[in-house]
Amino acid sequence: MIENVIGRYSLPFALATNFRINERDYLIPMVIEEPSVVAACSYAAKLFRKTGGFSASSDEPVMIGQIQLLDLRDLAKATEAILSHRADILAEINAGAGSIVERGGGARDLKIRKFEGSRIGNMLVIHLHFDTRDAMGANAINSALEGITPSIERISGGRANLRILSNLSDRRLAWASGMIEAETLVTEGAPGVKVVDAIIEAAVLAEIDPYRAATHNKGIMNGIDAMIMATGNDWRAVEAGAHAYASRDGQYTSLTRWWKDEDGNLHGRIELPLAAGIVGGATRAHRGAQAAVRILSPRSARELASVAAAVGLAQNFAAIRALATDGIQRGHMRMHARQLALAAGAAAEDVPGIVQRMIDAGSIRLAYAKEIVKERKQGS
Ligand code: MEV
Repeated sequence: MIENVIGRYSLPFALATNFRINERDYLIPMVIEEPSVVAACSYAAKLFRKTGGFSASSDEPVMIGQIQLLDLRDLAKATEAILSHRADILAEINAGAGSIVERGGGARDLKIRKFEGSRIGNMLVIHLHFDTRDAMGANAINSALEGITPSIERISGGRANLRILSNLSDRRLAWASGMIEAETLVTEGAPGVKVVDAIIEAAVLAEIDPYRAATHNKGIMNGIDAMIMATGNDWRAVEAGAHAYASRDGQYTSLTRWWKDEDGNLHGRIELPLAAGIVGGATRAHRGAQAAVRILSPRSARELASVAAAVGLAQNFAAIRALATDGIQRGHMRMHARQLALAAGAAAEDVPGIVQRMIDAGSIRLAYAKEIVKERKQGS
């Protein structure tokens, strides 16, 4: 798959459970090294499931590709020339696009953006909208851009420099929403309605403060990236799109919104670009990714994107519920103790006992884990 390989590097492959999305049940394949993510996601999905699960959807899988056009004497004239050839340009792209057109995809539209007075002068940026069907589509759109460049240069009289997709794939959004009844959120210390209020308070901080929004969105991407990675997709592309979208109004903000209805129940919604596919890319070569796609069994790339949005919403809920109630560390401690026990050289069958001793002693430290392991070895 890549160059200069010296071996393989494996990560845990897990399944998040309890997901019900648009009245269909899913097992969510997740590949991630971070403890608690899968458990938190499954727990959240269980609560949403009580009210019927998530509603989710996504746009047609339309990617955006950019051609940077320079050395133009008259931007207005070049714009006019390109737009007057719009239909021919789209037809030429589709004639060279191969099987993707037979499957219902291909060039959809062409837009022009103008940048004046930059450090290197004026330029036009041509945006090609290209439906990539069930593929993430990076190769398809980059080939289309490179193929059409000579015609664009001829029509506009300009010189093309960059020709590459944009990861701010805001024509390819996915969104999900769901509701949790307040009474489900009751804790030892607080009634459900108070927990709902605390969750909304936490969510509002992420709306107004980029320092919090970065962490809040990181939690969302814990879930989405893990699923995107499991299914052999490019998680850096999805990350880049998510964070650029979170800044679309000039200030970086939360990708989710949380509010309550008149009965005090909690509602959440997420929306973000989700450029991911179920054919091509790593899914072609990687058996783990193929297995993940089979387990998830999405019928289209759009369905995969919708499911990923629901996973992001679930993950975000789990994080802010924990933060607004017990704090995040309580749940993490057992997993952390497990890791320390393993790092201290404990045999797999001894791990639960060692973890319990560390928790009972209130000492989740590597030195203590080593001490217990040594003690056990001497005792056996
Ligand atoms: C940790 O990986 C993710 C969280 O920090 C997310 C959040 O703060 O919302 C718990």
